Amino acid sequence: MKIVESRILCQPRVIWLIITEWMDTLAIFMNAKVYMLFDKNKLISICCIKNFGRVKELGIVITTKPFRRRGYMAKLLNNVLKKYSRLYLICLPHLEQYYEKFGFKKITRKKAPWPLKRAELYNFFARLFDRDEIIYMKRK
Ligand SMILES: CC(C)(COP(=O)(O)OP(=O)(O)OC[C@H]1O[C@@H](n2cnc3c(N)ncnc32)[C@H](O)[C@@H]1OP(=O)(O)O)[C@@H](O)C(=O)NCCC(=O)NCCS
Repeated sequence: MKIVESRILCQPRVIWLIITEWMDTLAIFMNAKVYMLFDKNKLISICCIKNFGRVKELGIVITTKPFRRRGYMAKLLNNVLKKYSRLYLICLPHLEQYYEKFGFKKITRKKAPWPLKRAELYNFFARLFDRDEIIYMKRK
């Protein structure tokens, strides 16, 4: 198993995963840093770090479908999180407990830094159509 660091625009397979999993394409436009976990040279899991200066955001947390629930993402995140002292993320509420395992805690919308507040556009429609709203989380 190996973990490789790169930039999204250098990794067409990562771009494809982001699009087909309906993830936040902002990471592509920002050419965010991506960490890729390979097992036997097969790309299994990815996560990105969007850099907004003082604010760094974990995103694009994906394990390819056949390999989910086998601990691959835990391996990748435990490795990547060692490199960052403070990180934020946005996610749907069903993933709150998942990220708590890695030391993230939910914060209020008020405490969320401005780059994350782009989620409020989604939340506006979520309230209109009675869907779950995106939550904000912080580590350290
Ligand atoms: C969420 C996701 C990245 C997890 O990847 P994974 O490789 O399956 O995760 P792991 O196997 O490392 O799981 C680690 C732990 O979290 C748990 N877990 C995994 N997915 C979970 C989920 N959706 N909800 C709650 N807990 C979850 C596992 O049971 C495991 O717990 P354990 O260590 O006590 O057994 C994967 O399901 C995925 O790619 N989902 C689609 C994309 C997505 O929604 N990403 C999040 C965007 S914010």
